[in-house]
Amino acid sequence: MTPIFDTHAHYDDEAFDEDREALLQELPKQGIARVVNVGASLSSCKKTIELMETYDFVYGAIGVHPNETAELNEESFAWLREQCQRDKCVAVGEIGLDYYWDEPARSVQKEWFVRQLDLARELSQPVIIHSRDAAKDTVDIMTAENASEIGGVVHCFSYTKETAKIFLDMGFYIGIGGVLTFKNAKKLKEAMEYIPMDRIVLETDCPYLAPVPNRGKRNSSLNIPYVVAAMAEIKGITEEEVRRQTWKNAHDLYRMKI
Ligand code: NI
Repeated sequence: MTPIFDTHAHYDDEAFDEDREALLQELPKQGIARVVNVGASLSSCKKTIELMETYDFVYGAIGVHPNETAELNEESFAWLREQCQRDKCVAVGEIGLDYYWDEPARSVQKEWFVRQLDLARELSQPVIIHSRDAAKDTVDIMTAENASEIGGVVHCFSYTKETAKIFLDMGFYIGIGGVLTFKNAKKLKEAMEYIPMDRIVLETDCPYLAPVPNRGKRNSSLNIPYVVAAMAEIKGITEEEVRRQTWKNAHDLYRMKI
């Protein structure tokens, strides 16, 4: 069986404080062979660096989530630029726009989204895009910034298949996780039918968004097989085909050798 690549996890989260080490040591034994831990704030970027330096199979993404951008300034941005150049940092992220929580001001979110896109371009790294209730502004900024030259993934995709097409046309991958198994995820299932298998990557966004039958509980990469099963059913292919294709896609996305 092909192993699983969790392209988006937050094992630095306090939800894992009690058993982080035991859980992380278990993952490779359970077929989770690669994890990218994604920074969302300056402090989570620091913890991401510790995790990627501790565990062989853990890689990192360094960036600041739109709702945390109020903490950015020239000094902390310079620090981010340095950290992004570490060996095991495979992407700039997560970055983007979040109008669901809608803070700080949209102008601040936009400014740091653009700055971090430019950073990725400068360092020739892919980006991890977080976009919630902000499809139009996200697309407008990515278009204006020629994001197709940068590349990356739109994580926890939550928009329509029409919006998926725009990101696919820019050459982006689409990250899909536990939401796919939710009963009320009609829009995402439609998008999943539409998105070609060679552009999909698996993710957890753990500790959030555990798939059915563990919905509502703390999520971890160990739940990804439920997402694989849901994908296989929607696409009419085997679970092994889902594993094989997403394993390859994730390495291509993060420009890693298999
Ligand atoms: Ni995330």
